[in-house]
Order: sequence, then C-alpha cells, then structure tokens
Amino acid sequence: MEAHELHVLMVSLPYQGHINPMLRLANLLITSGIHVTMATTEVARHRLSSRNITSTTGNPNPPENPNQELLEFEFFADGLNADEDRDKNLGVLLEEYLPTKGAGNLSDLISDFGKKGRGFSCMIVNCFVPWAVDVAAAHGIPCAMLWVQACALYAIYYRYHKGMGEFPSLDDASNSVELPGLPLLKVQDLPTFLLPSGPPHFKNVVAACIHSLDKIRWVLGSSFHKLEEDVVKSMSHLKPIHPIGPLVPPILLGKLDRISGAGDFWDSEDSCIEWLSTQRPSSVLYISLGSISVLSESETKAVAAALETTKAAFLWVVKKREDGWGRRSGELPEGFLERTKDRGRVVRWCPQDRVLMSGAVGCFLTHCGWNSTLETVAAGVPVIAFPDWTDQPTNAKLLVDVFGMGVRMRRGMDGRLSEEEVERCIFEVTEGPMAMAMKKKAVEWKEAAMKASACGGSSDLVTANFIGEIS
Ligand code: UDX
Repeated sequence: MEAHELHVLMVSLPYQGHINPMLRLANLLITSGIHVTMATTEVARHRLSSRNITSTTGNPNPPENPNQELLEFEFFADGLNADEDRDKNLGVLLEEYLPTKGAGNLSDLISDFGKKGRGFSCMIVNCFVPWAVDVAAAHGIPCAMLWVQACALYAIYYRYHKGMGEFPSLDDASNSVELPGLPLLKVQDLPTFLLPSGPPHFKNVVAACIHSLDKIRWVLGSSFHKLEEDVVKSMSHLKPIHPIGPLVPPILLGKLDRISGAGDFWDSEDSCIEWLSTQRPSSVLYISLGSISVLSESETKAVAAALETTKAAFLWVVKKREDGWGRRSGELPEGFLERTKDRGRVVRWCPQDRVLMSGAVGCFLTHCGWNSTLETVAAGVPVIAFPDWTDQPTNAKLLVDVFGMGVRMRRGMDGRLSEEEVERCIFEVTEGPMAMAMKKKAVEWKEAAMKASACGGSSDLVTANFIGEIS
C-alpha cells in the first residue's frame, strides 16, 4: 500500500505531556503522506480544536502547510459526566471508566469511520491507554504503542511488573537496585509510581500497559538510540523498544519545513521571544515545571530570593493558580516583578521550543518531564534538575549522572528548598568549575539528537521501517 493510502489512528490521554509526543510522531507520519486521526477524550476538545489544528468539526484557521490537512482530531467521552472533577476522580477514571465506557466510545468511533468507508491501517496507542490495545484487536487493527517516557522507564517498569528485576524493598529509602543498561538507582531515583507512597491508580495503569505488550506488534520510544543505547539493548531480547525520536518540535532539530505540533493547551506569551533576543547569549535562566507540576509557596519564595540575590536574568513560567493539577502554585513575593523588571520576565505559558533555541538561555531549571528533558537535550542547554513525581526522579538521574549535563537541586533534611541551594545550583551550571564540561556534553547530545533524526539516522530508519511494515 502507498503511504498516502494509509490511515493511522492514534489514541492518547488528554494531557499536554502525552499529546505533545503523540502529535510529534503524527507529524513524522503526515510528512510521509500518511493520514492521521488523533483521538483523545472530550475534555481536550476546546483546548485543541481552537488551536490551529484540523478537526472534523471544522478548523477556523486554514493550515499553513497543505500536509496539515492529513491530521484530524476526534474526541470521545471518557465515561464520567461532563461536570465531574477529573482530578478528584482520577483513580476511578483511569481504572474503571476509561477501560470500559471510554473503550466502548472509542470502539463506536472506529465503527462510525468504518460505516463511512474509512478503515484504519494501524493504531498507535499511548502507553497510558493500554485498554485501547483490546479495542484495536476487536476491530482487527494492528497495534503499536508509543512509549512517551524514557526507554529507561520502559525497562524499569517492564522488569518490575514482569517480576524480573531484583527489586529490593521500596519501603527503605537507603536501598538500591541494579538493572541492566542503567546506573545504580537508589529508591529515590525510581519512578514514584512504584513507591509505596505513590498514587496506586497510575501504578495499576502502568502494570496493565506492561501486560498489554504481549498483544502489541511494535513498541516505539520517544527517545533516540545513542541517548539510551545500553538500556535499549538490554530490552532487545525481552520486548524490544525502538527509539523514534527525540519527539520534540521540529525547530529543535533544524527541520523548519516540518509542521509544528501546535497542540498547546494554553495561549503562549510569545512576546518573551522578542525580549530574549535583547539578552546576552547563554545569560538567561529559564524556569518551567511543565504542564502539571508547580513550585510550592516556600519554593517559589526560595527561587525568587535567589534570583534577587544572584541578579540572574530569567524567564519564569508561573502557571495561574487554577492551572496547577490538584496543587496550587506559590505566589511571587510582593514587589518581585517590579524589582526585577530590568532583567526578568514572568509568563503563564511560553513557546518552550523557541525559548530553548533562542541562544539567550544558558540554563533550564526543569522538573525533568520527559518532553522537557528531550527538548533541552535537543537544544543543548544544561539543566538544574528539580524533579517532582512520576518518571521525573529517574529522568533527573539520567540528566545529571548519565548525560552529564546538569546538577540536581535538592530539598534539605527538613524537606524544604533553601535559597542557598538554588544559588548553589545557578552558580554550578553557569560559572562553577564543571559549567563548561556540562555545556560541552549538552552540545554533544544536541548534535547526536540531530544526527539521529536526520536522513539515514537511527530514528529516521525506525520511522521508515515502521511505515514500511504498516504499508
Ligand atoms: C507529563 C509528566 O508530568 C512527565 O513527567 C512525563 O514525562 C510526561 O507527561 P509534564 O509534566 O507536562 O508531562 O512535562 P513535560 O513532559 O516536560 O511536558 C511539558 C510540555 O509542555 C513540553 O513539551 C514543553 O515544551 C511544553 N511547555 C511547557 C510549553 O510549551 N510551554 C511552557 O511554558 C511550558
């Protein structure tokens, strides 16, 4: 079958950190002429369909690139009533409603396409919707999974949930685990979904994902071979994962001809790009904790105080209080904006790809979400790693100890982040004795990311093989 005759259905949870890599994979496919339908739940409809993305319900903004017509959105009901609080009911949503009612609604959607004479050549499901694998099987559609986190996490979860690795008791923080292809991991470096204190519903979803792998033909990874070579090899005799990334905005890989993701859930304040263009090269500290995590009240104060003391130039993404997912973002100290207006900007959401590529950013204080991790790797920007939950502690370990491109910012014995610790980290990454070495490593990873995605690179070959197989 020719690429233009292929129609792929992608299915994702409606979170920014999940939609982004799915959209970026969709962009790789539509660039090859493949038609992609991205399905997610109704809660994302108003956020996505108003943002320059073609949808069957009508797109007010004509696409700039004709290929963009190959991407359309579909939304299905997750099973909870529209007015119910999805954060509060997350466990029941993920474990009960989505796998039953949500799965039924997705199945109806596929049937409706069939009635219109439109079948799917393949489904690509995000690893957090393992029940969609059974929907694909029921319709006789071959299925691939996109693992949207690090391949390291894939290996950890696989070994844990298949009962393979020698995991110690995770109740004892002083324990460590040694797994093939990975550095020695202390309990605190493991994903929080495995820890006794972690959210049980996510642990169960990941377990279901690992058990669904037997029914999946291809596992694609949002990573690139060189970045995670050892751990990718360690899985090759178990259930291989094929890195097809980094799945980052094309601008970070120098591919300006490709369509940008355009899947932001919030309006970005693009004026910060103009401001960055007035700043000295590598002089600005960029602070962002992705779409879910927030700094607490006292952490916000510690970071603000350090910015005042060090007089560092900064761009800080502070989400509005209501954007914090169950948690409320701290308030900036009174007068902070006025006192720092000559060298800092605070925004609610920014075009992170353009910020990292601006040349003005010398350091990224990040929560180490996997998308932000890959984006800073692709941009060659060193980090201050301040992980919050889920995969982020493991990503922080990779960034600092394996990729060698940053320092870890830690809370003290009292569980609080101090101003001195923030200052120490800013110094280490920008001027300290290891700063040059970290920058050098970051630039090497940037080059490796470009190479993997360029024509004939490892990820380009995985893309070509995958398209060849579904054809
Ligand atoms: C979630 C999880 O929390 C994370 O641990 C997991 O690896 C992926 O799913 P999130 O916390 O939102 O993601 O972080 P991240 O993975 O970094 O994704 C955030 C995305 O939002 C990035 O692509 C980033 O470029 C984008 N972003 C963030 C913006 O475009 N503008 C901003 O101002 C902030």
